[in-house]
Amino acid sequence: MHVLVTGGAGYIGSHTVLLLLEEGHTVSVLDNFSNSSPESLLRVQKLTDRAVEVYEADLLDRDELHGIVMRSRPDAVIHFAGLKAVGESVSEPLLYYRNNVVGTLNLLDAMSAAGCKKLVFSSSATVYGDSVELPLLETTVRSATNPYGRTKLHIEEMLEELGASNPQWSIANLRYFNPVGAHESGQIGEDPQGVPNNLMPFVAQVAIGKREKVNIFGDDYATADGTGVRDYIHVMDLAAGHLAALNYLSTHKGVNAWNLGTGHGTSVLEVIQAFARVSKRDVPYKVVERRPGDVAESYAHPEKAMLDLGWKAERGLEQMVEDMWRWQEQNPDGYRQNV
Ligand code: NAD
Ligand code: UD1
Repeated sequence: MHVLVTGGAGYIGSHTVLLLLEEGHTVSVLDNFSNSSPESLLRVQKLTDRAVEVYEADLLDRDELHGIVMRSRPDAVIHFAGLKAVGESVSEPLLYYRNNVVGTLNLLDAMSAAGCKKLVFSSSATVYGDSVELPLLETTVRSATNPYGRTKLHIEEMLEELGASNPQWSIANLRYFNPVGAHESGQIGEDPQGVPNNLMPFVAQVAIGKREKVNIFGDDYATADGTGVRDYIHVMDLAAGHLAALNYLSTHKGVNAWNLGTGHGTSVLEVIQAFARVSKRDVPYKVVERRPGDVAESYAHPEKAMLDLGWKAERGLEQMVEDMWRWQEQNPDGYRQNV
């Protein structure tokens, strides 16, 4: 299959491109490199000994986008491109609506014009808002607590309406829980710009000595040890979920949502302890105030993906941390040392 991957140079995109190539698909990537480096794709090509067609382009440039989709004639599109920083979305909501919602709208127009109607969309567990119903099921009521989350919600709804208007579309809304880890080679991984917002990359930078200590955002939640609990999922398991979804789309029409999570919750303290164990380094921490907007606990009910897609997460916390640590040790400055 020929797959166009938007945002394919980014964290989850680069790991998925690698797996697509390994499985024998051909891949075109469209990325504006606003939050990534072309180096990730150079490394993916080296690791797989396969070539990727790379277009440096912006989803907001409608003419260029149409030209690229027409030229590359994909059988399916995996759509990762988007902005994802919750705090930034609160201070720059229009930037998020424009980039994520309008960018997706432009992509759908270009796909329609090129006759491509298979789409895998990067949604997020953030569409469950602050739901207290656990585990989170695909049928759990959706809501948003910030503009980033609302862009995902709007896009899911837009895709549902598109599918209802034209039954030729095959669309997968994949709701990721908390993606972490890196490819086992240590060659590609997450490369956050500036101070990481998310727990795991922050802990990795403390372990390597780039930051002094982890701030634990509250230890008074109603969880086993009082710290926040999340469903961390290895990025290679997540990548495999995209291939399973593509497979499904080749034989099914309609719009579907699937949770991609492990179904298992891990606390902040457990993450810190696992990192200290694997890295054999000290990981100092301090308990501070809760972060506004955080929920105590979030984890998936992952059965639907197993039933429909035959997919389930295989890797546990130990492997997530080991792979992340290998990437961190081999690339203390991410991709920057090579650009
Ligand atoms: P990322 O920032 O590493 O990758 C996104 C890629 O999209 C980047 O390479 C960026 O340069 C590109 N991009 C952004 N806007 C673009 C535009 N207008 N035109 C072309 N390219 C553009 O992020 P990621 O962690 O790989 O996330 C991928 C997708 O998954 C995003 O849509 C994100 O919202 C979603 N998601 C991520 C997480 C997470 O924790 N990483 C969780 C749930 C959902
Ligand atoms: C965050 C986003 C969410 C997004 C998800 C993707 C917010 C409010 N939410 O969720 O929209 O879909 O990432 O992965 O940003 N923690 C600390 N110290 C830190 C960082 C985090 O204690 O320095 C805690 C948090 O309180 C939470 C857990 O670690 O309990 C995980 O946090 P994080 O990695 O930011 O993910 P989410 O909060 O799940």
